[in-house]
Amino acid sequence: MARLLSNMCSIQSVVPESYILPLERRPGQQVVPPCETIPVIDLDGDRNDLIQEIMKASQEYGFFQLINHGVSEEQMKNVMVVAKEFFDLPVEEKERFYSEDPNQTCRIKTSIDFAKEKVHFWRDSLRHPCHPLEENIQQWPENPARYREVFGSYSMEVRNLGLQILDLICEGLGLEPGYFEGGLTQSQIMSINHYPPCPDPTLVLGLPKHGDPYTLTLLNQGDVPGLQVLKDEQWLAVKPLPNAFVVNINHMLQIISNGKLKSADHRVVVSSNVARTTIASFISPSVDVLIEPAKSLVSEANPPLYKCFTFGDFIPTYIIDTHEGKDPLECLMIRS
Ligand code: OGA
Ligand code: NI
Repeated sequence: MARLLSNMCSIQSVVPESYILPLERRPGQQVVPPCETIPVIDLDGDRNDLIQEIMKASQEYGFFQLINHGVSEEQMKNVMVVAKEFFDLPVEEKERFYSEDPNQTCRIKTSIDFAKEKVHFWRDSLRHPCHPLEENIQQWPENPARYREVFGSYSMEVRNLGLQILDLICEGLGLEPGYFEGGLTQSQIMSINHYPPCPDPTLVLGLPKHGDPYTLTLLNQGDVPGLQVLKDEQWLAVKPLPNAFVVNINHMLQIISNGKLKSADHRVVVSSNVARTTIASFISPSVDVLIEPAKSLVSEANPPLYKCFTFGDFIPTYIIDTHEGKDPLECLMIRS
């Protein structure tokens, strides 16, 4: 349990060796431009304009921020407060959920795969499935006392919002209505990330360069910066906007769209003086779902770029490739 950063960092004055990245992977002193930013989209607009804006952002950046999205300011704030309360709990309370076994549905862990990875990342996370709610909520923490109530209603609202965005993407891609309504969105996972202050943020990362393997991510990043997106070989800082969601296209959506939409790489840098807490909601296929480029998007002139596979088969490859710094989509590509 001593492994959790949220238990030990207050007594840590130097970065433990096992967290120090090799020189070429460190964020270093590099200044990431805060000026150029990912698109900000107002959901309270004309439907056709919205589709165009979402498609453009998803093709160029794979990322956008969403404002006026309908999830109330109070909900956005409440989940953040309760998430921070959870990580502030005494060691024994968090210990009950600590596990390095990926098959345990509701668990708290540190870094990514502590037992297997060569270098650790400066993050703790509490992770659990959210959908269907009634099948999952019994496994969630009961301390803080409001946890289940606050995260239960939040996860349902986020789900509705995610499905609404996918509906717009469906139309933007020209797919048959309801394309994303079945297996491709059957699961939902929440990852509450906590990045404590770090004695030397130039040596570590909160999360390494990665793409999200699911369908769509909706991130409540609170008000502390740290997320960076890779565009044209350049890291861009994603500026926290009050009450906004950071939305990103995931690997499965890149494949279904036959490469039209981009699942962009991103990473997290940490700070020396403030803790950062973020709440990521992943809308995901269930494990047995077949993934392939949508039939209506491929033709002789536009052949499929990716093979057909089940989502469950992809996950082990994704984990290994991400550890080794390889692109997990590479081995799914059809070479002509
Ligand atoms: C993730 C992720 C970003 C953040 O959980 O996959 O990229 O800012 N999180 O916490
Ligand atoms: Ni991510």
